[in-house]
Amino acid sequence: MNKRKVGILTGGGDCPGLNAVIRGVTKSAIGRYGLEVIGFHDGFEGMIEERFSILRHDDVSGILTQGGTIIGTSNSANPFAHKADKDADPVDVSDDCMRLYEDLGLEALICVGGDGTMSIAGQLSEKGANIVGVPKTIDNDLMETDITFGFDSARQVATEAIDRLHTTAQSHHRVMLVEVMGRNAGWLALESGIAGGGDVILLPEIPYDVAEICSVVRKRSRFGRRFSIVVVSEGAHAQGGSQVYKNEEKAAREQKRLGGISRIIADAIEEETEIGCRVTILGHLQRGGSPTPLDRILATQFSVKAMELVAKKQFNHMVALQGNQLVAVPVEKVMNQQRKVPLDSPLIDAALAVGTSFGADLSH
Ligand code: F6P
Repeated sequence: MNKRKVGILTGGGDCPGLNAVIRGVTKSAIGRYGLEVIGFHDGFEGMIEERFSILRHDDVSGILTQGGTIIGTSNSANPFAHKADKDADPVDVSDDCMRLYEDLGLEALICVGGDGTMSIAGQLSEKGANIVGVPKTIDNDLMETDITFGFDSARQVATEAIDRLHTTAQSHHRVMLVEVMGRNAGWLALESGIAGGGDVILLPEIPYDVAEICSVVRKRSRFGRRFSIVVVSEGAHAQGGSQVYKNEEKAAREQKRLGGISRIIADAIEEETEIGCRVTILGHLQRGGSPTPLDRILATQFSVKAMELVAKKQFNHMVALQGNQLVAVPVEKVMNQQRKVPLDSPLIDAALAVGTSFGADLSH
């Protein structure tokens, strides 16, 4: 008799905790439910190109603490808009993916990823695939879950960086700008900024005014604090301005990649205040390395819950954390949306109460 099977893929940008999910799914699928696990290589690319392998107990032993994903990922593969090469026109190959899903005899496909992955997963579910989603991203911007795994590890890296920049900023009486990832959501900047005691935190949700930032820097200088820390989200932009991309000129062909706004802000502060500024762009450091204990626990709980949904045949749902409860939410509630920092967030209020500026007048 053919063994019952479940598939798993990791999509979008990698982050710490992916391996913990692969381990949790594989161990509970085999140990609790007697299922075989098929891991697709490099996210949806593996489905499109029919690249996959069976994941056994030994394959996932010892990977709990490892960053990255042992089955690889891709943040550009999309069965509904597949480009054979970067200049090719997109083609819908989702029927081929569905054929592979049927031929392999999968009971379900566990899609571990962010909003892009959940959107593709949702579209596949409309074609008949049994999907279970697991929310991953350092950006923490998925709807319907209080937290995604990967966020805590990235927040830890960013906070440590801010701590280190504090001492050198103080010694040289400089303004240190630290740019963190997060795409169009400011969670990473906001939470690492609060944890690291940033003097100014710039979020995509609150367009900044350079004059306001300079006034904070000057005021601190007047009170003997001759240094400032400015935590900048890569998606931040000036009032009336737009976001800055690393690959603007190639953006028509490639996915647009945010990055570099902090250099523009640094130049503006230096010009207005004549105080030396230095920029640190943390980049992919925030996505590498071992997951924090919180992410290991979250990833393990999410993966076990995902297998529970497969066993109960509760498909086309994503596992989520709401309050302290692990829940299942319909994938369609998560597709094509981003969870941004609300302006009435208690985190913003707490930061304001301890004198942190958001580079804009928030008094009204
Ligand atoms: O979504 C995760 C993320 O790290 C974003 O914070 C960042 O903007 C983007 O991915 C970077 O993507 P890439 O790895 O393609 O440069």
